[in-house]
Amino acid sequence: MGDLHGLNTLKHQPQKIAAMEGLWHTETGAPLVLFAWPNAETQSNDFAIEIPKLASLILTHDLNGEVQGLSAFEKTPPVKPVFFAFRLMVGLGFLMLLVAFIGVSFLLRRKAYPKWLLMTLVAMTFAGTIATLAGWYVTEIGRQPWLVTGVLMVKDAVTTIPPAHIGLSLTLYALIYIALLIAYVHTLFRMANNAINDQSVDETTPMVTGLQPIEEISHV
Ligand code: HEM
Repeated sequence: MGDLHGLNTLKHQPQKIAAMEGLWHTETGAPLVLFAWPNAETQSNDFAIEIPKLASLILTHDLNGEVQGLSAFEKTPPVKPVFFAFRLMVGLGFLMLLVAFIGVSFLLRRKAYPKWLLMTLVAMTFAGTIATLAGWYVTEIGRQPWLVTGVLMVKDAVTTIPPAHIGLSLTLYALIYIALLIAYVHTLFRMANNAINDQSVDETTPMVTGLQPIEEISHV
């Protein structure tokens, strides 16, 4: 899915891809930058850790394919937030996959989840939310200064509605989402507490067997 997303962005918003990849100048055989500190002053990356040619391979399916750099575009987004938000999204995506695979390996072997895995799962409660927010940042900051790339600039689309009205609807949105977040966390804690209070579950019971009849788990 991520790869398809990337190819679509390369077609319609190549400057966003250049910012995501930290690619300042057009290159053939462009490396995949795993980590770096993008430096807008020198138009290069400090402390870069790269895998040679991999960005070209991923984006053009050719080791020596050409990928356009930021200097090829007249208008470009700020690089740092796009670059880091992208790494946060992809990093969390891979971490969630890894933890899920480890969890499944315990389930398939009918082994109880060890404490470190349970702690990891708790620590990752908001991983999906954070990755989603990071993806949104990549998309929205990455298209700046355009609202519709090549057609409409953000500054030309600013509303004439008074700021107080915009502030009110934004506040209402924020309140609704805060209420949903509290409900979500509250429900998670309720479910977890119910499981703790359930005498039939002890440390040696696999967390999920997949074979429990519905009545037995219906109290959750
Ligand atoms: C290998 C992992 C991933 C890759 C390669 C990837 C790739 C991308 C790319 C290229 C974009 C920008 C699309 C654009 O603006 O044109 C994007 C946006 C986004 N990504 Fe990811 N992604 C990955 C993992 C994830 C994960 C794990 C989540 C959430 C759980 C996520 C959520 C999002 C969201 C919400 C957007 C914004 C979509 C929109 O507003 O249009 N991504 N992703």
